[in-house]
Amino acid sequence: MSSRRWVPELEILAREAGEIVLKGFKGAKKISQKSSAMDIVTEYDTEVEAFLRKTIEMRFPGHRVLGEEEEYLSHEAMGSILPERGFVWVVDPIDGTLNFAYGIPLLAISIALYLDSELIAGVVYNPVIDEMFSAEQGQGATCNGVPIKVSAVNELEKALVAISVGRRKQDSKLFKLADLVGGMRALGSAATALAYVAAGRIDGYWERDLNLWDIAAGLLLVKEAGGKVALWPEGQHIQIRDLEILGTNSQLFSEISSERVKL
Ligand code: IPD
Ligand code: CA
Ligand code: CA
Repeated sequence: MSSRRWVPELEILAREAGEIVLKGFKGAKKISQKSSAMDIVTEYDTEVEAFLRKTIEMRFPGHRVLGEEEEYLSHEAMGSILPERGFVWVVDPIDGTLNFAYGIPLLAISIALYLDSELIAGVVYNPVIDEMFSAEQGQGATCNGVPIKVSAVNELEKALVAISVGRRKQDSKLFKLADLVGGMRALGSAATALAYVAAGRIDGYWERDLNLWDIAAGLLLVKEAGGKVALWPEGQHIQIRDLEILGTNSQLFSEISSERVKL
């Protein structure tokens, strides 16, 4: 645990990066395909990540940075496990790139900070609507400075749950889940979904095939807002890729996670 408060630093970085994202959101962008037609990158993803990397390394010498785009270009520079010691920043320059490219204002800059494998601070910032979700370990979570907490919905049939329909189009588990819960939403940004669980706007979020940069900051937001989060695979080390996450308010967690096993 760090004795220092890190959220102010993360918020400054997110706002600075937000200026670049905003410039891109309003204008034309160059879109390149990564692994598939729906897995894309724009020049703003790379510009924002380069800005974050350079600025973090300049302001905090000795800290390491794990970011989506450089990991992609260098083919898994950090390996599959997060370094166990020291400060490690985990950044997603634009989470919701597809939304960004299509002009849908559901996107976020996600910045998380680990110290010796503990998640100590995280922010999820949407510059288009100027909404900053922040959490510091043990200090609670806020949205634009106002404390937030998860919802109190305790019946599955009244729960609004975010999911993703993307790579696993035939995912029958999604249809089974749809029968159990009140409603489902596919927001197109994992970081935003977790921030919305933290703020009580939705009651849960379940998704697979994620990477740590999609969810690290959001994970802390949900925990600090009084919710529960599980990350699979479980284990001693923090995995970077192929993650499955369930984040819910504290009432629904055991019910949805036991359904997850049955689904
Ligand atoms: C994606 C978003 C999306 C999720 C994908 C992620 P990106 O991140 O979080 O909601 O379903 O799995 O890859 O590519 O927009 O940073
Ligand atoms: Ca992402
Ligand atoms: Ca991204």
